Amino acid sequence: MAPIIESAGDTGRDFPSKLTLQVVVCSLIAAVGGFMFGYDIGISGGVTSMDDFLLKFFHRVYEKKHRAREDNYCKFDDQLLQLFTSSLYLSAVVCCWVASFTCKRYGRKRTMQMAASFFFVGAALNAAAVNLHMLIAGRILLGAGVGFGNQAVPLFISEIAPAKHRGMLNICFQLLITVGILVANLINYWTSGIPGHGWRISLGLAAVPAVVLGLGSILISETPTSLVERGRKEEGLKSLRRIRGVDDVQKEFDEIVEATDVANQIKHPFRNLKRRSSWPMLFCSIALQIFQQFTGINVIMFYAPVLFQTMGLGSDAALMSAVITGCINSASTLVAVFGVDRFGRRKLLIQAAAQMLVSQVIVGVILQVFLKASNSIPRWYAYVVVALICVFVMGFAWSWGPLGWLIPSEIFPLETRTAGFFCAVSTNMIFTFIIAQAFLTMLCHMKAAIFFFFAAWIVVMGAFAIFLLPETKGIPIDKMSQVWSQHWFWRTFFDSLPTSSIQPPTTN
Ligand code: BGC
Repeated sequence: MAPIIESAGDTGRDFPSKLTLQVVVCSLIAAVGGFMFGYDIGISGGVTSMDDFLLKFFHRVYEKKHRAREDNYCKFDDQLLQLFTSSLYLSAVVCCWVASFTCKRYGRKRTMQMAASFFFVGAALNAAAVNLHMLIAGRILLGAGVGFGNQAVPLFISEIAPAKHRGMLNICFQLLITVGILVANLINYWTSGIPGHGWRISLGLAAVPAVVLGLGSILISETPTSLVERGRKEEGLKSLRRIRGVDDVQKEFDEIVEATDVANQIKHPFRNLKRRSSWPMLFCSIALQIFQQFTGINVIMFYAPVLFQTMGLGSDAALMSAVITGCINSASTLVAVFGVDRFGRRKLLIQAAAQMLVSQVIVGVILQVFLKASNSIPRWYAYVVVALICVFVMGFAWSWGPLGWLIPSEIFPLETRTAGFFCAVSTNMIFTFIIAQAFLTMLCHMKAAIFFFFAAWIVVMGAFAIFLLPETKGIPIDKMSQVWSQHWFWRTFFDSLPTSSIQPPTTN
């Protein structure tokens, strides 16, 4: 994911700066947090389709899976099995809320170190798990790592990135999420061939990115905004000079100080969000998160191997297909990296909605016609389904994936940016949890119709992008309010022109 909050000091103006090695290295180290998140997304599907893992923790599912009479669509329907995947996201919701405070109080760097520590212990617990309790406790700690990381890392990257490279660095964070998913899929493919404890290797290797982030974060400098926010102006100025690679940073620094002063006066940013003029941004960012999850993407990311096995592919072929969708996911994200500022946000979202809709409907029809409760789908059709799922993932990767994070990060005015963005991150985690927890049960009850369910949501989100979402391409961040006041619908939410993004602080 590429959740970004613009730095308090960033008003969209260009200040003297170079894209220094320092910024690149710091961003890469921080982006390992994205890799950590992606690894988690990708690893659970493969592990939950491994027989050794099922035998040890989910005996009932193992038996069901191998019972010839079992309904194709219900083989994996088990609340506990789903809890294994979903518990992580529930814990992430709570922890990103805690992290929004630690980020402010202890800084982005410390919060990233906390993320790495939680993640490391979670991975160790999972690899050593001897019972379900240990397994779920490990997932909860991994969730804490994801919650802390997803709140701090994007904030960190956008605060150190020079304004003109922010968009690109932004989506690179999502790119690392997709690489994390892909690596997890490859590791699952490899470990599934290791008898007995392959799953332990899959789960334990999550510790590697945690170590890289933990050690790497010792080397990086805290962001100037965070230092100033905590009253360490001198250090903030030094840090800004270092990361910009030029001495002439006074103007940018003054902006950071000014913006931080205003932001610090807002004692209750969440209360500011309740104002009528905040509703359009709040609605759009929350809707984007819900829609992103209701594309059905995580059905593929979490359960692709399980889904492919449901269609009758052998477990090797199923894991291999997950690797293929992972490659497509990473490669297609590059289209967003280079296309988002050229084509604009809405065009990508609308085009991809059409593409995803067509592939979901055809997959639904094929399964409806060919996959009954107890048969095997003809091999040729199974491959067509895999190809269609690739087309679907491609569309998602250059649109609703990265833009679901980019847009909420750029539409809020400064005084509600962090609070508004927190609402976006937590909504995303809640809906990720819902999909992870409910999908296998929905598949069992709705069967092939589940694809029509997601297709219906895609129609709704396409209409949302066409009618309700304003285009934000190329609009400086401090001029963003104009897109709302000129929008045919959202302008009714403003009594007068909301030209200033800085509103008076709320008092008790
Ligand atoms: C979403 C994740 C999803 C990933 C797939 C992200 O933007 O937030 O839920 O698994 O994209 O690449």
